[in-house]
Amino acid sequence: MRIKNICCIGAGYVGGPTMAVIAQKCPDIQVTVVDINEERIAAWNNEDVERIPIYEPGLPAVVQEGRGRNLFFSTDVDTAIDKAEMIFISVNTPTKTYGIGKGMAADLKWIELCARQIARISRNDKIVVEKSTLPVRTAAALKEILKHTGNGVKYQILSNPEFLAEGTAIQDLLHPDRVLIGGDIETKDGIEAISALSDIYEKWVPKSKILTTNVWSSELSKLTANAFLAQRVSSINAMSELCEVTGADVTEVAKALGMDSRIGPKFLNSSVGFGGSCFQKDILNLVYIAKSFGLKQVAEYWEQVIIMNDHQKKRFAANIIRTLYNTVSGKKITVLGWSFKKDTNDTRESAAIYVVDHLLNEEAEIAVYDPKVQAEQIYKDLDYLESRNKEANRLNLNVTNDPYEACKDSHAIAVLTEWEEFKTYNWEKIYENMLKPAFLFDGRNLLNIEELTKIGFVIKSIGKPAPTKNSVVSKPALVS
Ligand code: NAD
Ligand code: UDX
Repeated sequence: MRIKNICCIGAGYVGGPTMAVIAQKCPDIQVTVVDINEERIAAWNNEDVERIPIYEPGLPAVVQEGRGRNLFFSTDVDTAIDKAEMIFISVNTPTKTYGIGKGMAADLKWIELCARQIARISRNDKIVVEKSTLPVRTAAALKEILKHTGNGVKYQILSNPEFLAEGTAIQDLLHPDRVLIGGDIETKDGIEAISALSDIYEKWVPKSKILTTNVWSSELSKLTANAFLAQRVSSINAMSELCEVTGADVTEVAKALGMDSRIGPKFLNSSVGFGGSCFQKDILNLVYIAKSFGLKQVAEYWEQVIIMNDHQKKRFAANIIRTLYNTVSGKKITVLGWSFKKDTNDTRESAAIYVVDHLLNEEAEIAVYDPKVQAEQIYKDLDYLESRNKEANRLNLNVTNDPYEACKDSHAIAVLTEWEEFKTYNWEKIYENMLKPAFLFDGRNLLNIEELTKIGFVIKSIGKPAPTKNSVVSKPALVS
């Protein structure tokens, strides 16, 4: 079966970049990305391609290439569904905030709405692809909804989870470690649907990297991959606390570990805690699934990854307060970086939100600089926590577009995102304009401790012995 028209429901961090790359690699396929969010669609259609709604290196050029040729962004969901032979569902699946499973289970209401809309509109057979990350066995529910339309339309449901990471989405999409396609491998129609999707990826991905499984394995593999990745970060973060009390250096420990080919060097950067829209949500979902099958030990095992991450964020904030003589009340603290990692404007679950919330509770005055996150988003993130009223958030937190202005007259700086540009600042100038002692809390082990200590900063890094002005400390070597 040759696919000529694709519809993707959900123009977010996954739908947008994924479809832009499919459109680039398959110029003979018309790709329409639809969303109910009019503002978002308008931004994807912005004439100035640098102003699309997602900041992602390399994305503007890919969008520019396809847009208006075979890549379209629209709010007309019905028409796009009707035209397409293959429909990707790439809508959000956040943690439930109400009812049964509140705070743990994935909220599937948007997925169900998509399924009902597809069922209502479709007049010819469709392949429905789960691109969103979903609990194992969601495909069965989708099938149920689609089966009951009574209009004779046949559906094949595929699971094709996305493994891209934000900030490197385009490279991840162009050169994936693997593409996973779960489908009904026991029927002719199922195998045909799998091969229709595989044909699309084969335009640029070697066939050896396209893995076919049954639907349940595919759904569960995605949750498992995120759980394993997050678990590595929590594991190294757990060791960072031990390093701080024993005099070991977490960067050295990570390097020594990473050279063991069974462990490997990636994802061992100790930090202020992982953030992002996926890790916490997907682990909580995994924990919920395990609990609902009565697998108490399995649930507790994975829950610990989240507990450790929360602890890391809290202890980072507590360390700032303790170091500043047990009070930050009325003191200016500058936060460099608000996004959950570098090279993205996404702030979902960013550690910065929780660290700053903690400091605001202690009456600190916060200045924030982030190269890509807008002030409006920063206030929205804090308001969402409802720790204090909106006015108080705006009164006690100031967002500036100039990092030097942000750091001026502050008691301490906290680096919370690993933006490369932070390394290039004139740190002597920053030091001169700060109150002394000038404290610097590096939540990413990003900066050169030796140079900054020589300038006069008092530095606290994650998982490292505290250097003194005269001590020789090695330059932090980030583990890739
Ligand atoms: P997102 O919130 O950025 O985008 C989802 C979009 O879907 C929103 O713009 C929303 O308006 C739209 N939407 C919701 N319901 C709709 C409906 N009924 N009709 C039309 N549009 C609708 O989310 P995201 O980050 O792109 O994530 C999407 C899915 O992909 C999630 O399941 C997530 O777990 C998974 N995922 C995300 C990443 C990532 O890095 N963000 C990576 C891999 C997988
Ligand atoms: C993650 C998965 O990597 C990706 O495969 C999946 O599709 C979506 O979820 P993402 O959340 O975009 O991607 O970014 P990722 O690079 O995984 O980082 C997640 C968080 O962990 C960030 O806050 C990051 O700073 C942190 N992290 C990552 C560390 O603290 N240390 C590390 O060594 C790696």
